[in-house]
Amino acid sequence: MSSQDNMSEDNLPEAVEPHGDGVAVSDDPFADPGLPPHEPRRTDIDERAARRAERQVAFLFVISMLATIAFLVAYATLGNSKIIYVWPFGHVLAMNFTLGLTLGVALFCIGAGAVHWARTLMSDEEHPSERHPIEAPEDVRAKVFADFKQGAEESGFGRRKLIRNTMIGAMGLLPLSALFLFRDLGPLPEKKLEQTAWSRGKLLVNMNTDEPIKASDIETGSLTFAKPQGVEEDQEDFQEVMAKAALMLVRIQPEDIKSRQTADWGYQGVLAYSKICTHVGCPISLYEQQTHHVLCPCHQSTFDLSDGGKVIFGPAGHPLPQLRIAVNDQGYLEALGDFSKPVGPGYWERSA
Ligand code: FES
Repeated sequence: MSSQDNMSEDNLPEAVEPHGDGVAVSDDPFADPGLPPHEPRRTDIDERAARRAERQVAFLFVISMLATIAFLVAYATLGNSKIIYVWPFGHVLAMNFTLGLTLGVALFCIGAGAVHWARTLMSDEEHPSERHPIEAPEDVRAKVFADFKQGAEESGFGRRKLIRNTMIGAMGLLPLSALFLFRDLGPLPEKKLEQTAWSRGKLLVNMNTDEPIKASDIETGSLTFAKPQGVEEDQEDFQEVMAKAALMLVRIQPEDIKSRQTADWGYQGVLAYSKICTHVGCPISLYEQQTHHVLCPCHQSTFDLSDGGKVIFGPAGHPLPQLRIAVNDQGYLEALGDFSKPVGPGYWERSA
């Protein structure tokens, strides 16, 4: 139904009078003022203007296609190290700048083309919709389908093949950008998350003093942080290595240790556990010496170090991995291998 149909004088409420400028007014402040008459746009009455608008819309979609192709070419050809100067950002990675620019242009041109198409060529007549029962009668549904068909025809989607085809081309090419970005997430970590810098014979070195640790250095009730021998703070991948190898040491009276394996994997009550929370990987640092519990400050997961690092509270899904330790000939604590389980949070390749 067109606005002219709705706005015929026969349809107006009794108290409503048509205004001189075509807008109905009434003494009743709540009367429906109706819609102003439809003003045809230039493209509605001038076929040349409509064709010009059509070419402009197609031009934007073509620019989007070219930008997507430029994105793919830039991804394939620009290295990961080339730096360029771009005002006003300064020195930036050429790859990042070009991918961002081309993807932005591709998305913008699709949006701008769609908006320009809607504003210049699609029908802009307003169609009031009367309130009615939720279940539409058959004749109304038939009318909806007819209106939809009419709207589709008026939009020119079927008729304006140039716009339709270029828009389909632009939208069809654009997802390729996403495919390339997903590919760039890199290879799966495979076994790398299950291996740390600990191995048989590696001494436990105090994080604060940088000295190898003797069992006698660990006092009951204290929490000592350690790193593997040979891992130095000035090495390039120190943070990366310690993100998996960080270790904490406690001493618990042997009679307070609840699990036989936990005691066997320690040395005279000295127990070594991963410092990385198995929830989402925060470093654990709060130790309750009376209960032998450690608390993760991020989401309050609590682990019992006297019972194999078992989770006794909070969202963590796995016990803290224990490192099996012993004492070498000189009395220093050393690892007898890597951690018992992968450290840190769960991930898709974890088997346990
Ligand atoms: S990271 Fe430790 S509880 Fe969430």
